[in-house]
Amino acid sequence: MKIVIIGTGYVGLVSGACFADFGHDVICVDKDPAKLDMLARGEMPIWEPGLEGLVKQNVADGRLSFTGKLSEALPDAQAIFIAVGTPSRRGDGHADLTYVYDAVREIARALRDPAVIVTKSTVPVGTGDEIARILEEEGAPEGTVVASNPEFLREGAAIVDFKHPDRILVGAEDQKARDVLTEIYRPLFLNKAPMLFTSRRTAELTKYAANAFLATKISFINEMADICEAVGADVQELARGIGLDGRIGPKFLHPGPGYGGSCFPKDTLALLKTADDFNVDAKIVNTVVRFNDDRKAAMAERVARALGGSLEGKKVGILGLTFKPNTDDMREAPSIPLVRGLIEGGAQVMAFDPVGMKEAAKVMPEELVYCEQPYGVADDADALVICTEWDSFRGLDLARMKKAMRGTALVDLRNVYERDEAERAGLDYYPIGR
Ligand code: UDX
Repeated sequence: MKIVIIGTGYVGLVSGACFADFGHDVICVDKDPAKLDMLARGEMPIWEPGLEGLVKQNVADGRLSFTGKLSEALPDAQAIFIAVGTPSRRGDGHADLTYVYDAVREIARALRDPAVIVTKSTVPVGTGDEIARILEEEGAPEGTVVASNPEFLREGAAIVDFKHPDRILVGAEDQKARDVLTEIYRPLFLNKAPMLFTSRRTAELTKYAANAFLATKISFINEMADICEAVGADVQELARGIGLDGRIGPKFLHPGPGYGGSCFPKDTLALLKTADDFNVDAKIVNTVVRFNDDRKAAMAERVARALGGSLEGKKVGILGLTFKPNTDDMREAPSIPLVRGLIEGGAQVMAFDPVGMKEAAKVMPEELVYCEQPYGVADDADALVICTEWDSFRGLDLARMKKAMRGTALVDLRNVYERDEAERAGLDYYPIGR
């Protein structure tokens, strides 16, 4: 099967490498010459465990290649996946589909034989219909059809998620699209991945519903954490207590500083916009979005409370800047409002992140000081804040940290440590919801 993938971002590059690894013939197309140069040198434009090896292997085996020219990639392609970015549009939160529709126009003009055009990017309901309309308008070959095949992979676990999905979702209006996608994913059936067929609109909406549900679940446990703090209960035990109920499930019940990343914030906003366009008052998702924004904004205040109420003249060391571990992605990271809030409050802030500091430097206030290793942030600090739960922060020598500090506060926004461990090291422990 010959597959073309447009866009070598997270979804495009991982999908391309994995499809090639299944034995398909894959060409990835990207307009960005800098990205293509990196890929040609065998360097990855994103930091994702296992990706570099997978890409290099499949390039060496001749199943995976990269090009800037769509017209060169298209001949004989049976499926063309659109995996370009769909960022939030400034102003109204709607997904910006400029890149998607530009790609479709280009495909329509260059395509010589009918193919299945598949949206892999998260796109609002009705995008497939609009793509079909553009293809017709631009005179794409007769028999070219459109399907929706949303991707549910997580950053940091992208390859495992892609190869062992909970489900493969295909939204299509015709048998040809269903047949081609079944053929493409056949290698995964060995992993017992169920394939679900729906209408195109249902598939498009299902992706938003999944992300909005997970965002709601996280916000719910964060709200329970606030209640636990107020009444003197333990949210970790509460999460286990509710999570063992099969109807609730144990995953995505970790309290923290609020969700970030490239998907939940963007997709919840886009879902609200869709609901609004269709005159539906999406009260739950709306509340989740506001709750999460408020939560992220409140984290600096939480550190101030641990320091007796004021940040003025205080030194704060931050461990972890990326929105979650195993990625260098800083998009919508809770560390951003945290660091801004600390600096605005008059604190001096030092930070360490195992891989995210280069990306962080692009978005963080200039005043933030970067350290070369985790213990560096403790130097003379009044408080330490664990903001991202990197594995390498789980076994820190807390006594060594304490020794380097001038204060005693450990604000653990990810509940990595236990109170008695911190107290044994002489630290005052401020976890979430315990
Ligand atoms: C998410 C979805 O999981 C994935 O299916 C979709 O395709 C893209 O969006 P991702 O953004 O990579 O993936 O990260 P995820 O692991 O879901 O975490 C998102 C945010 O939620 C992070 O900031 C994380 O720290 C936070 N989170 C997650 C919690 O605070 N608590 C949890 O229990 C889980």
